[in-house]
Amino acid sequence: AGEPAVGQTAADYPARPLTVIVPFAKGGPTDVVARIVTAEMSKTLGQPIAIENVVGAGGTTATQRAARAAPDGYTLIVGHMGTHAAAVALYPKLGYDPDADFAPVALLTRMPVLLVARRHFPAADFGEFVAYVRGHTHVLNMAHAGVGSVSYASCTLLNHLLRIDPTGVPFNGTKPAMDALAAGQVDYMCDQIVNVVPPLREGAVRAYVIASPERDPAVPTVPTAAEAGLPAFQVEAWNAMFVPKGTPEAIVGVLNAAVMRALDRPEVRDPLIGLGGIVPPPDQRTPDALHAHLRTELQKWGQVLKRASD
Ligand code: MLT
Repeated sequence: AGEPAVGQTAADYPARPLTVIVPFAKGGPTDVVARIVTAEMSKTLGQPIAIENVVGAGGTTATQRAARAAPDGYTLIVGHMGTHAAAVALYPKLGYDPDADFAPVALLTRMPVLLVARRHFPAADFGEFVAYVRGHTHVLNMAHAGVGSVSYASCTLLNHLLRIDPTGVPFNGTKPAMDALAAGQVDYMCDQIVNVVPPLREGAVRAYVIASPERDPAVPTVPTAAEAGLPAFQVEAWNAMFVPKGTPEAIVGVLNAAVMRALDRPEVRDPLIGLGGIVPPPDQRTPDALHAHLRTELQKWGQVLKRASD
């Protein structure tokens, strides 16, 4: 009752508060990006936007729920390279199809990924890390945010390249995983830069490489994977907003315009860039650009993860 009819025009949209599903724990990379961007979108749209953290199964539980929500523009999801690309290759019976079940709204950020370890991990640099993990693969613990998450997919690639097989320790997001890493309870993790910068600056963890072609100005002393001798360790995570397929195009247009505007505002750019995130330029923010990116990423991660499991 009270649900607006599917196919309504954008003229009276949004007429009530919106809900954005975040598939991981509060305070982690997806949550941080979602909160920064939607706080600004809320001003443009003139409605409150509630964030609902729906955790579990590497973000796939939440994503399935978002895929089945009413396509009326009132339930959105911030998904990412894991939920909307890597998960397809990792779950034979995934309960959604990132391409068929969602209408892309906009890319929000591109996100470098770093290899981080507990503060007292016995390796001064990446070369020593490699030597140590190869000699201790059976006692190594690797934290991740569930099968299908960015952290899981990224470190699956790393582990494959290094030929190591650690014990995986799943968390509901990389914020709780990072807390465990900072407490010395797990050995290492592959994580998105916005979640790494604060504990790294505090000296709570150490970072060995950034899996990008270039160093990031937010962590200028961390070498690239190529500089450190592992050029094939390349990952660029990303976060993006989606609505269920069938959402009227006019509503997608209203939401996209609100994202476009938000990503130009210093209130959004400054914190994201300060934490090492990359704010996409306007031509990468359209629904079509996100759709093309999604397809490329589905293909890429399908291949990467197939190779890693061979
Ligand atoms: C999070 O928000 O916790 C992360 O995006 C999880 C991940 O995909 O590694």
